[in-house]
Amino acid sequence: MSDKDLDATARDILVSNDRGGYTIPTKGLYPFQWNWDSAFAAWGFSTFDADRAWTELETLFSAQWDSGMVPHIVFHKEDDGYFPGPEVWGTGTSPATSGISQPPVAAILARLIHDRVGGTDRLRALYPKLLAWHRWWRECRTVHGVACITHPWESGRDNCPDWDPGMANVDGSDVGAYQRRDTGHVDAAMRPGKDDYDRYLAMVQFGRACGWDQATIRDDGPFLMGDPAISFILIRANRDLAAMAATLGEDGSEPALWADEMEAALPWLWNADLQAYAARDARTGRFASNISSGAALALLAGVENAAMEAKLAEMWDRVTYGIPSNDPAAAGFEPRRYWRGPTWPVVNALIAVGLADAGRHEDEARLRRETAALIRQGGFFEYFDPLDGTACGGDRFTWTAAIWLAWANREAA
Ligand code: SER
Repeated sequence: MSDKDLDATARDILVSNDRGGYTIPTKGLYPFQWNWDSAFAAWGFSTFDADRAWTELETLFSAQWDSGMVPHIVFHKEDDGYFPGPEVWGTGTSPATSGISQPPVAAILARLIHDRVGGTDRLRALYPKLLAWHRWWRECRTVHGVACITHPWESGRDNCPDWDPGMANVDGSDVGAYQRRDTGHVDAAMRPGKDDYDRYLAMVQFGRACGWDQATIRDDGPFLMGDPAISFILIRANRDLAAMAATLGEDGSEPALWADEMEAALPWLWNADLQAYAARDARTGRFASNISSGAALALLAGVENAAMEAKLAEMWDRVTYGIPSNDPAAAGFEPRRYWRGPTWPVVNALIAVGLADAGRHEDEARLRRETAALIRQGGFFEYFDPLDGTACGGDRFTWTAAIWLAWANREAA
């Protein structure tokens, strides 16, 4: 397929995954609106339909909680093809939503969309909502000065080995019987295991039992881990908010301060054994023992660290395609199992945004070339084996189509 045909297919994927103001990640496997997926979808729409791009973000923020949290799933319409659905979460909101959040990439992408297509009035209306969400991250998820997650799903990188230390302390033995739906849509060998799901559910059940009281979940819940990826994303996103504030004539000193404070707290995530930033259990202090794409997102935040960059370069050189979600040299690397090794076009794109800003054009071009090759060879799948490029997970995937349109297709074949 020529790049022109790929462009047309990518646009068709976005349009056909549109459910009326919001885009599902893919038919079957993920039939609702997902938080960070939608932000990437908006970026993709901005290449051919500016109005629809802004609408995607507006629909997402229409489900924002009074606390400022933007939930990770919005269950606009019923669909029994997904588990756990709204009745399991039991948040009692309207529209029904999950009770946790997801990586706050919306401000980063809103700024890129505004740079591409304008829409200052739409940005102006979104700005206070973005600010409220970032404030929620600060008040409800910042511990030891860094962004923490209360559920692996909140990281967006569900079964990444980053979370193994925290998962080891979650008791999933008493969650009762349930029926997974994901393994009916894609190969079980590419998905998290049953032990993972038991624990995922135990965390949902805790949240539900405390009425989704976020302070209780943070302080007494079964899982709390510092996430380098979300910390880097928030640093970048808060700086983007401050830049937006300047454009809008608002006072951006608050998000600028939040970014500086989180950057100053990053040493808490420094794993000297790995010579890299790494996930860390906020209760026990235990570090994850792998380098992951979470560390590589330091580049998005413009956080420079020569020792870690050397490690990241070694990790990148161990694969053929893109930044892997887990280091191939680490124990437990699985090149096709969701976040335990595969490369994800969306993460590559975020890293590339940082590389371009830093003037590292050769690295950015390499990352773009490798990501584009995966899509040219394998199509618009959810993620890919970084060693041989095998396409994995869901097909006709919104965020891969969006990344092609907004970034990867700029690489000449
Ligand atoms: N990614 C999760 C799932 O696989 C939910 O966000 O269901």
